[in-house]
Amino acid sequence: MSNRTFTMIKPDATSKGYTGAILDQIIQSGFKVKAMKWIHLTPSQAGQFYEVHKERPFYGELVEFMSSGPIVAAILEKDNAVADFRTLIGATNFKDAAEGTIRKKYASSIGENAVHGSDSDENAAIESNFFFSNFERF
Ligand code: CMP
Repeated sequence: MSNRTFTMIKPDATSKGYTGAILDQIIQSGFKVKAMKWIHLTPSQAGQFYEVHKERPFYGELVEFMSSGPIVAAILEKDNAVADFRTLIGATNFKDAAEGTIRKKYASSIGENAVHGSDSDENAAIESNFFFSNFERF
């Protein structure tokens, strides 16, 4: 169990003006922001981030979507961060997400699902290192 996870607020949510509400829900749920960046990924960067999904049929669509507008990337801290954050955001498909979760409230499809949350401590570290140097986290 680690006390840090990584998140992105995705282009669908930033373009609809949900950034503030999502950050507020994250902070009100007990997560502390340890690093944060507002950034527009290139297709190459988005492809690299999601390389693990390269063989999936939705990979091209995912890369196009994730490079379609700005995102907020952040490192979050809380006890049991990875599991608790995944509970907070809800299932990948918002239709299966529990009431009150971030995806249930703000996602519009399985691909455009408002937020990303790391699925393991190992991936939280890899994903955090993709976006942030040691000088950018506190
Ligand atoms: P995320 O948690 O960021 O991890 C991988 C992403 O791929 C996922 O959220 C969705 O945005 C996307 N994704 C997963 N399954 C599908 C699917 N069936 N069709 C389109 N996009 C998907």
